[in-house]
Amino acid sequence: LTKRLRKDETSTPLESTLSYPSTSIPPKISPVPIQQPTSLLTFSYTPSRELVWDDSAMKYYVDPPPGAELSYGYERWVKKPEERGRIDSLLRAWSKARMPGIGLVSWRGVMTKILTAPYEERDSWDLNVMCVNGTLYLEEHSSDARLKEKDDMNPRQRMQTYYGYAFESWCTSSSPDRPESLPGHRAGWGGDVDTNVQWCNVIKTKLGDVRMVIGGEVDCIRGRKDGKHDAFVELKTSLAIRDQRDEARFEKKLLKFYFQSFLLGVPEIIVGFRTPSGRLTTIQTFKTVQLPRLVRGKPGAWDPQLCLDWGRRFLTFLKSTVQTDPNTPEENKRVWRVRFTPGKGVSVRLLDEEGVRDVEGGEERVGFLPNWFWEEEMG
Ligand code: A3P
Ligand code: MG
Ligand code: MG
Repeated sequence: LTKRLRKDETSTPLESTLSYPSTSIPPKISPVPIQQPTSLLTFSYTPSRELVWDDSAMKYYVDPPPGAELSYGYERWVKKPEERGRIDSLLRAWSKARMPGIGLVSWRGVMTKILTAPYEERDSWDLNVMCVNGTLYLEEHSSDARLKEKDDMNPRQRMQTYYGYAFESWCTSSSPDRPESLPGHRAGWGGDVDTNVQWCNVIKTKLGDVRMVIGGEVDCIRGRKDGKHDAFVELKTSLAIRDQRDEARFEKKLLKFYFQSFLLGVPEIIVGFRTPSGRLTTIQTFKTVQLPRLVRGKPGAWDPQLCLDWGRRFLTFLKSTVQTDPNTPEENKRVWRVRFTPGKGVSVRLLDEEGVRDVEGGEERVGFLPNWFWEEEMG
């Protein structure tokens, strides 16, 4: 852990860095305690992207028809526009289910990026971080250029992305025991894809000594909903494995599947293998907890303990860098930018006024926190 401190008048470090963990030399790490998540509440997004406090978007798993076509319905895809990954709906949920002692609030996708960083060789990422009344709030920072890039997917990428959603439709039904039979559609089709619609779960967990509230989408559940976690299912698609190189590539991908599912307490991941042109070949079920053992000693191996150890060090570092003085309320308004660069590590810097304005995006916010939430906090 290296810390470069450039002090200003208020003696706040302007930039701190945390070095990248080595994955080649097995470090001596003591197991990092992580708590089994407990569910706080669930909510749904309607087709018009309205947040409703119910399970209307929840789906049940059903076996997909053999050889299902993942390009089916492509031209009817209602695509959710790319947006800044705002934390607003999670804050609304958090506001309903507040409890003392929570050190961090964030979407699951952000935590997955943090925890899998030790094995990330390609993609860098940026976060915005605020510390309000001692709780850390994290949101992904996407520049306008990055959002535009995501929205302007080339036709091939767009189709491949669609395959993932079409798989969800072939594998889910609004009724627990039978596939949908929708007039005018192929048998087993769960309905045209509308990516506005999502079912979200908000959970509480603890990594090291940080209690956190995390929200994320759950693809579907098995059997009847009984309020317990053990029925959640994550759906994934992947190119059918042809040789050992494909296998290693797939094992590497399992790291992201693992943490994405693990963080929300999703015990089962169902992978639909497909041909390059989107025909389903086989499906395979993985138990989330068994994935680390499955990849151990293989070419694409990864070690979740190394990720958890890194995650704990990252959070300790972040807390010590951004913590505010309880006697100086103005400090709660500070916004920090975390930048992760593969092979290098993580740096944290305090945003200047212009940077904060950019984060606010001309909306009614203090930093990236909506005004209503800010007032609730300062109340
Ligand atoms: P697959 O991952 O099965 O291809 P999730 O698996 O997280 O539930 O996401 C469902 C689908 O959304 C994915 O299906 C993929 O098509 C698309 N998707 C998710 N994250 C993405 C990303 N970062 N970039 C592009 N597409 C993404
Ligand atoms: Mg999903
Ligand atoms: Mg999925």
